[in-house]
Amino acid sequence: MCGIVGYIGNQQAAPILLNALKKLEYRGYDSAGLATITDSHVCIKKDAGTLVEVNTKHQLNELPGIAGIGHVRWATHGAVTASNAHPHLDCNQEIAIVHNGIIENHQELRSRLSARHRFTSDTDTEVIAHLIEEYASTGSSLEEAVRLTSRELKGSYAIAAVSAKEPGKMVAARKDSPLVAGIANGGNFVASDCLSFLEQTDRIIYVEDGECVILTGDKVSLFDNDGHEIKRTPSKASWKVDEATKQGYDFFMMKEILEQPQAIRHALMQDRTLMMEMALEILRARQVLFTACGTSRHAALIGRYVFSRLSSKFCDVVMASELGYFSDSVDKNTLVIAVSQSGETADVMNGVKKAKENGATIFSLVNVVGSSLARMSDRVAYLNCGPEIGVAATKSFTAQLTILYLLAYTMINRFDQGVGQLNAVSDLIADNLQHNGLEVPKIANRMSRKNDFYYIARGINFATAGEGALKLKEIAYVHAEGMPAGELKHGTLALITEGTPVVAICPGDYTFDETLSNIAETKARGARVIGVSDRQEPAFDEWIEIPEVDEIFYPLVSIIPLQLFAYHSAVARNLDPDKPRNLAKSVTVK
Ligand code: G6P
Repeated sequence: MCGIVGYIGNQQAAPILLNALKKLEYRGYDSAGLATITDSHVCIKKDAGTLVEVNTKHQLNELPGIAGIGHVRWATHGAVTASNAHPHLDCNQEIAIVHNGIIENHQELRSRLSARHRFTSDTDTEVIAHLIEEYASTGSSLEEAVRLTSRELKGSYAIAAVSAKEPGKMVAARKDSPLVAGIANGGNFVASDCLSFLEQTDRIIYVEDGECVILTGDKVSLFDNDGHEIKRTPSKASWKVDEATKQGYDFFMMKEILEQPQAIRHALMQDRTLMMEMALEILRARQVLFTACGTSRHAALIGRYVFSRLSSKFCDVVMASELGYFSDSVDKNTLVIAVSQSGETADVMNGVKKAKENGATIFSLVNVVGSSLARMSDRVAYLNCGPEIGVAATKSFTAQLTILYLLAYTMINRFDQGVGQLNAVSDLIADNLQHNGLEVPKIANRMSRKNDFYYIARGINFATAGEGALKLKEIAYVHAEGMPAGELKHGTLALITEGTPVVAICPGDYTFDETLSNIAETKARGARVIGVSDRQEPAFDEWIEIPEVDEIFYPLVSIIPLQLFAYHSAVARNLDPDKPRNLAKSVTVK
């Protein structure tokens, strides 16, 4: 992953870059660094640690110059050390680059270059700086050197490069990693995500695969692989600056949990015709496959039950990183529905590309407008839930579910009924959030010394168990497993002993009686049961109350207190829920 940013203009670059990097930290936060150009030389500071830590130690914001590049890292190749942090330099310290992605042929390139170049890091990235240096040393301009270098790289990259010899310009290029340029008054930007420079401008240009962008203080020019200029009209970013701030909350995650009633209402703002066309194609498709990762995959798993129960349409869900292995069964009769908050997850993009090559039709449910997935899909339904910054997905999950419900209702020709019911559920969630906002922290505190949790549920609620467990693992670093309650007795029951916490999602629906029997099996072995239900049962040692809703909507109302539970479990353990260790929000590497 990683986040990259570049600025060139008429103001001091470092404070602007630092501010931009703060907005990119969701992409990585194990190291940070900046390089600026001044008086025809490169100034660079970088280190391991969060952006705040690195800035406190090295005063990144004081680097001089009106052009520069910055980076926040999520390590892939090379440990988390100062030398592996970006930017990386050529041998003469005249060229600086930042990179997001993975250079798959870095070993081969390093072997070729190492006789003539001095490597100072263990990263895959550093070969890019030395390759640019090779081409520049034979007289190529920076843009020509970047273009020739790009041709030699295998893998994925978004690169921004500056050279002390050409201080008035910056060059960026991409393949399979996101890159967007921003046109502002008095300066221009390039970055992994437009959120980083929204305070300066909402005029953006998406850079496509194989393209190269040259920025000066007053111009942004796009070129194709062969160096031919491309004219592209800038678009307007769909997000506002204040949507990407904490607005007084301690953590983005809490803000985003509380935004969920509104997220449902906004996700419902779908174009009726688009929904009808998508619903019709889903019904007609011989084979429908959902594909997604992480939280989005849990939404897809619930969507699968909803499609089956409401619209009698059977679909399968294939983990995106595994989709390519089913290529033999994917053809023009297959409809793939890709679900992704970011629209940039490499596993999703890779699986979808392969399916597309086999002739499949691609629909996607995406939050980030203009993201790579959105651009390569035949039809896109946007989540409309605003920027989600917390690494652990919350409001994007409820927005994804909302659209899946709406599609299912549209399949049975009841679009309006779907909208009405989901709006009503959103009101119930708002009330329940108030209640659980007080009750759930108490339960999380009482359970804060427990280290192994088992989440169980049946039927449509089974994926809620998986998602609840995922949240706890991600942000509280507590081992948790989510599974169908019926499966427990086939192995995992051996792990239930005196006091083991079992979170049972057990609403008063068609799964109630059987889940209760499975709860009894765990209690007989000493489990401490946290029941998530609209009914209070004697079997529950702790009760997380949810509102009574139509049976298909229980996943929507049950997941929210489980997000709260994970959040308060993290806070009770003194952890930062927005920045879980080893993780990043947008995973743009395979
Ligand atoms: C990462 C994040 C998860 C997210 C998953 C899929 O692993 O940490 O929170 O669910 O990517 O992301 P996407 O943007 O494709 O929904």
